[in-house]
Amino acid sequence: MAFDTKKILALLNEGLEMEYASHIQYVTQAAVTRGPYAEALISRFEEIAGDEAEHAKIIRQRIVALGGVPTTNVGEIQIHKDSLKAVQINLKYERDTVEFYRKLLNLLPPDEPILYEAIEHILEDSQEHVEELERLADE
Ligand SMILES: [Fe+2]
Ligand SMILES: [Fe+2]
Repeated sequence: MAFDTKKILALLNEGLEMEYASHIQYVTQAAVTRGPYAEALISRFEEIAGDEAEHAKIIRQRIVALGGVPTTNVGEIQIHKDSLKAVQINLKYERDTVEFYRKLLNLLPPDEPILYEAIEHILEDSQEHVEELERLADE
């Protein structure tokens, strides 16, 4: 294999922890958020949470395909019931995620297309999440 499997597995597990954390963060915020924009945000957060669960599934499958063991650890979670604060927390998280997957993608050889395209897909979704949250946060 044209890359350091051990290193890539460690990074994929790091990504998996982030996906679990962000899924829990969105569904919990959807449950607790209050205020004039709550209704729109609840459905948005729940929809994005679905994307995060899909990302976690994709990463779990790639970890197993590389001979690794998917982590059950969950990254750091921040919750806020104020809707704007929740959006800002998620925006920061998504921006960090984009940075993380960009770096990971640069470590992957294009001759590993399944893995490469899996991470590319997750990166694209994360960039879409950043765009949507930027609009919601007016940033
Ligand atoms: Fe994600
Ligand atoms: Fe995301």
